[in-house]
Amino acid sequence: MKAIILSGGKGTRLRPLTHTGAKQLVPVANKPILWYGIEAIVEAGITEIGIIISPETGEEVKAKTGDGSRFGASITYIRQDQPAGLAHAVKVAQPFLGQSPFVMYLGDNLVQSELTLFLEHFHSNNLDALTLLCPVENPSAFGVAEVDEKGRLLRLVEKPKVPPSNLALVGVYIFSNAIHNAIAAIQPSARGELEITDAIQTLIDQQKAVEARQIRGWWLDTGKKDDLLEANRVILDNCCLHPALNGEIDANSKIIGRVQVGTGTKVINSTIRGPVVIGDNCHIENCFVGPYTSIADDVTMIETDLEHSVLLQGAKVEGIHHRVVDSLIGQRAQLKEAPKRPKALRFMIGDDCQIELA
Ligand code: G1P
Repeated sequence: MKAIILSGGKGTRLRPLTHTGAKQLVPVANKPILWYGIEAIVEAGITEIGIIISPETGEEVKAKTGDGSRFGASITYIRQDQPAGLAHAVKVAQPFLGQSPFVMYLGDNLVQSELTLFLEHFHSNNLDALTLLCPVENPSAFGVAEVDEKGRLLRLVEKPKVPPSNLALVGVYIFSNAIHNAIAAIQPSARGELEITDAIQTLIDQQKAVEARQIRGWWLDTGKKDDLLEANRVILDNCCLHPALNGEIDANSKIIGRVQVGTGTKVINSTIRGPVVIGDNCHIENCFVGPYTSIADDVTMIETDLEHSVLLQGAKVEGIHHRVVDSLIGQRAQLKEAPKRPKALRFMIGDDCQIELA
């Protein structure tokens, strides 16, 4: 068994963060989204992993993620020259996959994984495809499954205007080598992509053994800011955030609940109420850091109250007299108090930013 993880794409919905980097590397609870997928695959016993990368962000993904040894896996990077669809990515990965069955994981999906159970089901029933489903409120934004009263898969449609159900295709699939012939038989969709949904529908039409299973845990698509903040909240709530205080915390500071503080970080006269994760070499002084906040390495925070937010590496937040909430602050971005005179707001805002003033 092998696995491929798709880590290309343009990440338009997470701009401006993705102007400068891969969406799959945006951190959730201080860990790149992509790494959660790698860990889930390794946990299910698969160690031969191909990561599909794009020319734009591939080098960054490679540099950050490495050869797989940190995960106990062997990673091969496979370049997809144009974003021509998920099924196209499988085509590009064919030399790596050979005739092996495989898991396909979309690198921007976070799934509370029961992958081992699904793999057992796939193997013991000799399936050609096993897709995972999750009920959603906006099925038109996804691939959608039509199932009969026993939950058997009847039909799959990609982003239907009139969805046949509320069951969306989660970005984790298990395939036998039969998928390659199905992909060879499909044409690009209206959005000009070779859709994996159409390839699976072809397997259904060919009477191959295709099943769908509803997942029981959560599934988060990290496409937009609020999705990312929600993912951060769920991960901080559910995943093993082991309290660990490695930095220097002075006697005037209070740490409440599950909090991680990285090495070289200084917390001075501040209150931190978990769940919160703070990276290495940060400086936090005269602040309140509230629940569901992730602060990456090298962040400076002074005289600020903040909660339910994600700060990326090197961000600086200083002297903000309103509580900052629901915010995503990019790498090296600065948010600071204006000089007293003349009283005014001063901005230098990059492309696609969103600012909400109180
Ligand atoms: C892709 C698939 C879609 C699936 C979704 C899950 O959509 O085409 O069927 O439901 O991933 O994240 P995309 O992210 O390419 O719009």
